[in-house]
Amino acid sequence: MLDRKDVKVNFDLEKMDESIQGTALQTKSKGPKSKKFYIESYGCAMNFNDSEIVASVLDTMDYGNTQKIEEADLILVNTCSIREKAEDTIRKRLKYYQLIKQKNPHVKVGVLGCMAERLKSTLLEEEKIVDLVAGPDAYRDLPSLIPAIEGGEKGVNVFLSRVETYDDILPTRLDDNGISSFISIMRGCDNMCTFCVVPFTRGRERSREPYSILAEAEDLFRKGYRDVTLLGQNVDSYNWVNPETKEEMTFAQLLVLVAGVHPDLRVRFSTSHPKDITDEVLYAIRDHENICKYIHLPLQAGNSRILELMNRTYDQEWYLNKVRRIYEIIPDCAISSDMMTGFCSETEEEHKDTLYVMEQAKYSMAYMFAYSERPGTPAQKRLTDDVPEEVKKRRLNEVIRLQNQLSYAHNQNDIGKVFKVLIEGNSKRSENDFKGRTSQNKVVNFPKKEGLGKGDYTHVRILSGTSASLRGEIV
Ligand code: SAH
Ligand code: SF4
Ligand code: F3S
Repeated sequence: MLDRKDVKVNFDLEKMDESIQGTALQTKSKGPKSKKFYIESYGCAMNFNDSEIVASVLDTMDYGNTQKIEEADLILVNTCSIREKAEDTIRKRLKYYQLIKQKNPHVKVGVLGCMAERLKSTLLEEEKIVDLVAGPDAYRDLPSLIPAIEGGEKGVNVFLSRVETYDDILPTRLDDNGISSFISIMRGCDNMCTFCVVPFTRGRERSREPYSILAEAEDLFRKGYRDVTLLGQNVDSYNWVNPETKEEMTFAQLLVLVAGVHPDLRVRFSTSHPKDITDEVLYAIRDHENICKYIHLPLQAGNSRILELMNRTYDQEWYLNKVRRIYEIIPDCAISSDMMTGFCSETEEEHKDTLYVMEQAKYSMAYMFAYSERPGTPAQKRLTDDVPEEVKKRRLNEVIRLQNQLSYAHNQNDIGKVFKVLIEGNSKRSENDFKGRTSQNKVVNFPKKEGLGKGDYTHVRILSGTSASLRGEIV
C-alpha cells in the first residue's frame, strides 16, 4: 500500500474568509464609455488571461470592449514570441491594422505581451503604425500610457517587475463559455530551458498571494463557472511566503485550498515541469474528487543527451519514473505533453527516443512543434541550429502520427466506462447533443436530456471514440 501523506494546509480557514473579504479584488469601472478598444490575443493561456487583466484595467478608463475591430478607437494585440511563426503571424496582423488605420487615422495600435517585451522600442522603428508597446508587467501603466498616445506621442513600458502579480485585479472575462476559466497563480519563469524565450519575455518567477487566488475562484464559482485552471509556466514551483508570519504555501497546499471553494468547482493546473511535480501534488489529486485527474507534463525530447542540451534537468529514466509514479498513485490519470523535434544536433536515433518515451507514457494528447531558434536564448548563443528544416518537419510528422495513434488508443480504452462529465454547452455538430468534459480533460458528446444544461454534471457511458473526442450516453 502507498503511504498516505496528507496535504496539510497551514492556513486558518476561518481567518481566510475574513481575509478574502478584505482583498481589494475589484477594479472600479468608470461607467459609460465614449471610446472602444478591441483586443486580440496570441500564445499561451497566460497571455489570454493577461488580456482579461488588460480589459479590467481599461475598464477604469473611458474604454469599453468591442468584439468588432472596425468599431475600435484602440486596437491592442497581445503577442507571443515562442516560435518564429508566432511573431510572423503578428507582423501580418499589423499589416492588416495598418489598412484600418489608413481609413481611420485616429485609431491607435498597441502591441502588448511577449513580442513587445522582446523587441522593446525597436518595434516602434520597425512597425511605424505601432503607437504603444507594453510588456507583460506594464499593464497597470496603461492608464498613463494611453492618454499620451492619444495626444500623438509614442508610449513604451517594457519594465519587467520582480513583484507584479496583478493580484488585486479581477480579470474581465472576454469571450468565454461561462463555465471554464483561467486563474494566473504565478508569473515569469526561473528555469533556463536553452530553447525558450519565456524567461526573457516574462522575467523572474513570482507567486501570487493565495487569498486573492481564492477570492477569484470564489467569484468565478458564484458567477456560474465550474472549471478553473490554475496557470503558470511552472505551477509546481509555486511558493508563497507570508510576509508577516513567514509561513510558506506550496502548490499542493494551494490546490487543496482552491478545491475547498466548492465540491462542484473542478480545479485543473498547467503547466507542470517534470522536475518539480511532487508526490504531495499527486496525493492531493488522488484525494480530492474535484482536482482533475489530468496532468500536462511536457517532455520536449525523449533522449537524455538532448534533454541535457535543453537544460531540462531530468533525463529519460527520471521522466519515465515520474510517469510511473503518476499512474501508480492516480491510476485513472491522463497525461499530456509537449514535444519538440529537431533540436540542435539531434540525431535520428535520438529522435526515436522521443517516440519511445511517448509510447511508454501513453499520452492522451500532445502539442507538437518543430524547433524554432529564438534570438537571445542560450541555445541560439551556444548551440548550432543544424537540423535541416525538412528533417525537423519529417520528424514532427512522425511524432504527430504516433500521437494520433496514442490518442485513439487512449480514447478506445474509455469505451464502456462511465465518467462524470461537466456540460459546457451544445456540441459543435448538433443542437441535439451536449458537449462536456471529463476530469481527464476529454471532450464527450452525448444526446441531451431534459432538465440538464450548461454547468451541470452528469454521468456518461462512453460508446465510441476517435483520436479527438468521445461519444456516449447519459446513464
Ligand atoms: N512552461 C512550459 C512551456 C511553455 S512554452 C513548460 O516548461 O513546459 C510551450 C511549449 O512551446 C513548450 O513546452 C515547448 O514544447 C514549445 N517551445 C518552447 N520554445 C520553443 C522553440 N524555441 N521552438 C519550438 N517550440 C518551442
Ligand atoms: Fe520555458 Fe522552460 Fe520556463 Fe517552460 S520551464 S517557460 S520551457 S524556460
Ligand atoms: Fe508565447 Fe509568451 Fe506565452 S512567448 S507561449 S505568450 S509566455
